[in-house]
Amino acid sequence: MMKKIILDVDTGVDDALAIMYGAESKQLDILGITAVSGNVPLHMVMKNSRRVLKMIGREDVKVYAGADRPLFREADYEFRVHGEDGVGGALDHVEIAEEEESMFAPDFIIEQAKKYKKELTLIMVGPLTNLALALRKEPRIAEWIDEVVMMGGIVSEAGKGNKLPNSEFNIYADAEAASIVFKSGANMTLVSLDVTLKTFMTIEHIDQLKGTKYYDFVLNSTEVFRGFSKMRYGKNGCALHDPLTVGYVIDPTFLETKKYYVDVETVSPLGYGQTICDFRNLWEKEPNVNICLSVDAERFLDSFISTLKVTE
Ligand code: BDR
Ligand code: CA
Repeated sequence: MMKKIILDVDTGVDDALAIMYGAESKQLDILGITAVSGNVPLHMVMKNSRRVLKMIGREDVKVYAGADRPLFREADYEFRVHGEDGVGGALDHVEIAEEEESMFAPDFIIEQAKKYKKELTLIMVGPLTNLALALRKEPRIAEWIDEVVMMGGIVSEAGKGNKLPNSEFNIYADAEAASIVFKSGANMTLVSLDVTLKTFMTIEHIDQLKGTKYYDFVLNSTEVFRGFSKMRYGKNGCALHDPLTVGYVIDPTFLETKKYYVDVETVSPLGYGQTICDFRNLWEKEPNVNICLSVDAERFLDSFISTLKVTE
């Protein structure tokens, strides 16, 4: 039976790739996509996600608008990584119908968690605002949801964050929301930068898509992102943060995980948004999050590229 999932996105270049990978894998039953303010403002996230679904012929999947800002802080967008419209201008030609009124995303999460008790997997690849709001309204979803798989944070590789030396964008963008989620008691897995930075799609990987349906989109949408990576990491390509998070739900053996107690810093200006993993159990707390210790990057990249090799 296909796993029932809701994908929460802030589309975003790699969010777009994650939607495509999840849908084209044909291994996930996508109940809906929930949108949150993150890489770009909410209205752009909505538009980008709906355009991606149109491009891949999955307009049957509905996109639900969620939080248009973090719980307490000002939004901090990532235009320099994802381009002015969030997808490097690569979807300008895709026409979509006018947006219809939809249920508020946190309410959709609550509704589906209640309907599919212990069957629903939430895949969170943006800031955690929608899930925090859902948990505040209906804390029992923590028991109802089978697993929450989140892209975010950095736990082992101190100093190699992407927003602050020890903070990753999704957690930094709304650390108070992340703190609520981490303390919810849900079954959680954190796909952090420690592993996502190791799944790097190079220009050679993209070349393998030549002659297939998504080649132009993958090449063009990643142009700004690849330029940024070149400047920061000296490599022309992009880390597949959000696709790897979807990949873990498709095939958990891509990642080696272990459960520890993890908390989020919400006060210090030097460490705002830091995910602190208590490897030595100094706080003597019950482990709450499965963190990722290693990744089979080659096998995941093979799966990702071959899944996107669609010919019509
Ligand atoms: C995360 O932040 C966003 O820029 C990406 O889409 C990904 O979800 C990586 O830190
Ligand atoms: Ca994202």
